[in-house]
Amino acid sequence: MTESWLTGHLAPVPDEITATDLAVTGTLPAELTGRYLRNGPNPRPGEPSKHWFLGHGMLHGLRLRDGRAEWYRNRWIRTSGFTEDARFVRDDLTFDRTAVPANTHVIAHADKILTLVEVGFPYEVTPGLDTVGPCDFGGRLTSAMTAHPKQDPVTGELLFFGTGFLPPYLTYHRLSAAGELVESREIEVPGPTMMHDFAITGHHVVWLDLPVVFDLDLALTGGGMPYRWDDGYGARLGVMPRAGGPVRWFEVDPCYVFHVGNAYEDAAGRIVVDGARYRDADFAGLWADIGGAPDPARAAAGTESARLHRWTLDPATGKVSEEALDDRGVEFPTHNETRTGHGHRYLYTVADDAIVKYDLERPSSSAHDLGEGMAAGEAVFVPAESARAEDDGWLLTIVSDRAGQGSELRVLNAADLSLTATVHLPRRVPAGFHGSWIPDA
Ligand SMILES: [Fe+2]
Repeated sequence: MTESWLTGHLAPVPDEITATDLAVTGTLPAELTGRYLRNGPNPRPGEPSKHWFLGHGMLHGLRLRDGRAEWYRNRWIRTSGFTEDARFVRDDLTFDRTAVPANTHVIAHADKILTLVEVGFPYEVTPGLDTVGPCDFGGRLTSAMTAHPKQDPVTGELLFFGTGFLPPYLTYHRLSAAGELVESREIEVPGPTMMHDFAITGHHVVWLDLPVVFDLDLALTGGGMPYRWDDGYGARLGVMPRAGGPVRWFEVDPCYVFHVGNAYEDAAGRIVVDGARYRDADFAGLWADIGGAPDPARAAAGTESARLHRWTLDPATGKVSEEALDDRGVEFPTHNETRTGHGHRYLYTVADDAIVKYDLERPSSSAHDLGEGMAAGEAVFVPAESARAEDDGWLLTIVSDRAGQGSELRVLNAADLSLTATVHLPRRVPAGFHGSWIPDA
């Protein structure tokens, strides 16, 4: 049997290409002048692949300018694991944080474009997608770096964390708006977990300490992703003042969360966190399907899908309230990042057959149907230059034929999810993880 992540719209592509003057249907807004970059795993042809998350990172980039799609190109990220087959665990059992796939996200901060994966250092790339090399911020980064840092839209800082298989299991970092690593702080947690994302608010950081834990036996024997669900670990969200101070932990119903949508402090001082939540059975199904350790009994009751969920944490009472926001299976929640940590009305998500927009103020949702047999990647929100409303802007998403017949970039009007333009791509883009719109300065 061929692994699910090597077939159809997930199948890797065999090589790197460059194409220019791409065909466009509809009208590309002229103000969309910049680059849309997206990262994802792409094992080399014939290379063994034990888990969807482990393939070498490949960037797919589109250059848009003045209403034209000037180029598409795809490039593997030249990590030491890619070019020299360097191993993450050295013979002396220390970790080589440059020997990582760099396959999960790509962001721009200060003067750098960084590709990210949560077990190691970022790799810097050029605007043309050539690899510059690993980045440890002048030697100051002493842990791995999450693939989901958060840029504060008010201060311009980039807040992030790194996890470790050995203590310290969790380290908080703060990068200034100018790109200098100005703070690193160890955070106490009970053990090493697969902490993929976190949240920020105006005054706090929110940790997700959830029961998908590192398993040394799996690491020594499996060669895949050494994590499994552990009923004994418990589940908690931690609220930590950004200015320093202890973490306040809130017990929550056990679940797993790859992705937070956004978080904020409400008028009563409560911390509101929206994210895509997996029940244990749903996580078990997904995890086995992408190469993780199977748990068939648990998976039998699941759907492999996450659902949008809200946790409200009240520091005054120590209480948590939880609310399922919808029963539709969705992932990759995104928002208008000028609102990160400061309250959002809208979230954009990816369902099996649609891009789904949630209005959380007047609870409702709307959808852009992808069409028969199509699948979409994360929808990145780009604010309009003259934006007056939170959803004044566009959504960029790569949509692919599930049978592997091709891909296109769709530009949706974020207000009503209508199709503004389609850029026809010269080749299929494998379903991957996260990307960013990087406007020209
Ligand atoms: Fe992610």
